[in-house]
Amino acid sequence: MFKTSLLKQASRAATAARPASIASRAIPSVVCSRGLSTSQALRRTEDEKDDLPQEKGEHVGTHSRTDNRIAIPFDEETQPEQKPVQGRGAFHFKRTLASFSLEGKTGIVTGGARGLGLVMSQALVVSGASVAIVDLNKDEAVKQADILMKQFRDENPGAENVPLVTGHYCNVADPDSVNSVIEEVIAKHGKIDNLVTSAGFTENFDAIAYPYDRIKKLWGVNVDGTYLFATGVARHLMERKSPGSMVFIGSMSGAIVNVPQPQAPYNASKAAVRHLGRSFAVEWAHAGIRVNCIEPGYMLTALTEHILNENPELGQKWTSLIPQGKMGRPSDLMGPVAFLCSDASGYMTGAELRVDGGYTCT
Ligand SMILES: NC(=O)c1ccc[n+]([C@@H]2O[C@H](COP(=O)([O-])OP(=O)(O)OC[C@H]3O[C@@H](n4cnc5c(N)ncnc54)[C@H](O)[C@@H]3O)[C@@H](O)[C@H]2O)c1
Repeated sequence: MFKTSLLKQASRAATAARPASIASRAIPSVVCSRGLSTSQALRRTEDEKDDLPQEKGEHVGTHSRTDNRIAIPFDEETQPEQKPVQGRGAFHFKRTLASFSLEGKTGIVTGGARGLGLVMSQALVVSGASVAIVDLNKDEAVKQADILMKQFRDENPGAENVPLVTGHYCNVADPDSVNSVIEEVIAKHGKIDNLVTSAGFTENFDAIAYPYDRIKKLWGVNVDGTYLFATGVARHLMERKSPGSMVFIGSMSGAIVNVPQPQAPYNASKAAVRHLGRSFAVEWAHAGIRVNCIEPGYMLTALTEHILNENPELGQKWTSLIPQGKMGRPSDLMGPVAFLCSDASGYMTGAELRVDGGYTCT
């Protein structure tokens, strides 16, 4: 089997190494709009394609295809609770750049009651920022806000400046809800300097069977939610004539197509988030507002852990495709989010930070 495949590769290489015959039958090289010339040697006519050895067998393409039998709906009611990570805060005396500190800043984290949003909220608090956690689940947001403040006090005994952490209700897909929570946060905290948009969800259905109302809901949260929050906070920063930094939580799915689970609307939503970030970065650079995007790979949150417990073969498939050989932990996003919110990333805007264990490199 292995030998056959080697033979096929050798045969294919030999076919590709026939520049004279290919050139003689090739379409003339063309210049595309970016001024790059396509190579004649790489072009083949339809006849030559037929000359290529045909790959046959069950293995062909199986590692890079979606499987339309996988269907995982998202259910707001049954989300597991996420615990803040332990041992990441505390007062320390290791030297680092002062520009990494977020002391004196106030951030909003959407979807901060659970999962990645909660741990990123914690990263901002540990770095000295006050944080407003906004979420559909207000009770959980308020509970986690109290836990983060208590944790800060425990880890920094005698600290004079204890960040204020508050929890708020918001449906990020609803413009009225977004505007009213932004006012509520400004009333409580006095200002907003940073925004992290983590509210979002994914679900899996074969594209043709995907219920349209669910697609609209997903795009409403993932895309409209990012748009509405970003513009609301940008308006506030411009009125205050203050610089600020926003971090959109996209996904590697905005750049690649995950396999085997089908999730076309989610992938498209994250591509939209990515390009919204770049568009706002350009549009608001004059006002000193930076917009960058973090694109996580497969992260092991309470929710993904729950999904993988029910579908263990999915986890095996995913990790087999990650060069680092493991899923990311939510705490892997603490450094990136604090960095992008801080002045240490002052000349970065419109950038994308992939945190995916190398997934998108292969
Ligand atoms: N977990 C991963 O592997 C992973 C990978 C790449 C990107 N992401 C992205 O990271 C973000 C966070 O994902 P997570 O895994 O932490 O999810 P999660 O479900 O654990 O947390 C999402 C939070 O958003 C809140 N939320 C959902 N809809 C909302 C709405 N309409 N308004 C306000 N809040 C709402 C939920 O209540 C929840 O607290 C999402 O945008 C997701 O697409 C996650």
